[in-house]
Amino acid sequence: MKNFTGKTAFITGGASGAGLGQAQIFSEAGMKVVIADLRQDRLDEAASYFKEKNAPIHAIRLDVTDREAYAEAADEVERVFGGPPHLLVNTAGVNVFGPAEASSYDDYDWVMGVCLGGVVNGLVTFVPRMIRAYARKEEAHIAATVSWGAFGAGPVTAPYAAAKAAVLNLMESYRISLKSYGIGVSTICPANIRSHIYETALHRPENLRNTGYNVTEKTQQFLASIHEHGMDPRVLAERLKEGIENDLFLVIPYKDGPRMVEIELERFKYLAYPGGEAELAARRDTPARRAELLRMKNEREGYDVAAAGPIAPPPAQEKNAPPRKLDTGGFAMANKDADWVDPDKKAQG
Ligand code: NAI
Repeated sequence: MKNFTGKTAFITGGASGAGLGQAQIFSEAGMKVVIADLRQDRLDEAASYFKEKNAPIHAIRLDVTDREAYAEAADEVERVFGGPPHLLVNTAGVNVFGPAEASSYDDYDWVMGVCLGGVVNGLVTFVPRMIRAYARKEEAHIAATVSWGAFGAGPVTAPYAAAKAAVLNLMESYRISLKSYGIGVSTICPANIRSHIYETALHRPENLRNTGYNVTEKTQQFLASIHEHGMDPRVLAERLKEGIENDLFLVIPYKDGPRMVEIELERFKYLAYPGGEAELAARRDTPARRAELLRMKNEREGYDVAAAGPIAPPPAQEKNAPPRKLDTGGFAMANKDADWVDPDKKAQG
């Protein structure tokens, strides 16, 4: 999509963080913007920002996991702006962290329900409408805010990383499928955004609150201190807009994006033969590779080096010394009652 003027964008999670940045940038590009979000307070705040600018905006309170409500929201967009969106941006997301072995069904159902299920619902709701309205007639595009987490497994990110990896794959399938209709598909995979995502774990739906993780005001404050130095959502949205203009599938919003992906994904080759895992660890543990990774982290656009300070190399570790402990306020640990979990991974008290 090259021309945004007068077209309609539908942005989930559009009332905060990455989604709000996207709403601003696409609005400034001349689009009529629908922001759909779970939080009415944030929707009101965002809507008044756009109204003050006299920008065409429509706010819809929507839980992206609710399929009936999603269909109603789609009807509402057609009533208000005269047709389905030309640009669908699936950005609503949540996260919560803790040891994989402590994960509960509620942790999976909540995180995957929003981060993966919400995108599925967006696609099933809107793709047929967009094809009928725009295929080979008008420019149309679908995007998702994925995550750097889509590329890597992690000991404390199981539901989130699984959901994001699935979204990346899902979007690629749609990219291939929608080509013949002239509808583009893009994803953006940031590492850290200046946003409110750390709040979401404290506001889970009533029926999905049985977590295996240690989640407290203090752990979420630790997470907040990380997001404080994340990428500016407006800069991120600019990168997405450029990606859409260039019909790029994978937007890595950093200077060394393709190289970062290459380093991250090379692991699969080594995981596919006996002894490969040890070989990979040795290959990565070289001064040159460590220096390259550090340089890329420090040069990440949107990482505020002036405010946060350059990321220092980890201090040299004595052989056989116990691993150093960072004060994380109990972040990413298991619920203290999870008696099968290694005590070192459990919250105290
Ligand atoms: P945010 O919390 O500031 O914004 C997310 C918005 O989604 C919020 O307004 C929230 O109310 C809404 N939302 C949550 N559940 C919803 C539901 N069921 N239905 C509708 N709306 C819902 O967080 P942020 O960081 O801007 O997150 C946006 C996307 O970016 C998410 O998909 C997240 O996974 C992704 N992301 C975030 C990163 C970060 O460092 N914050 C890094 C990489 C990706």
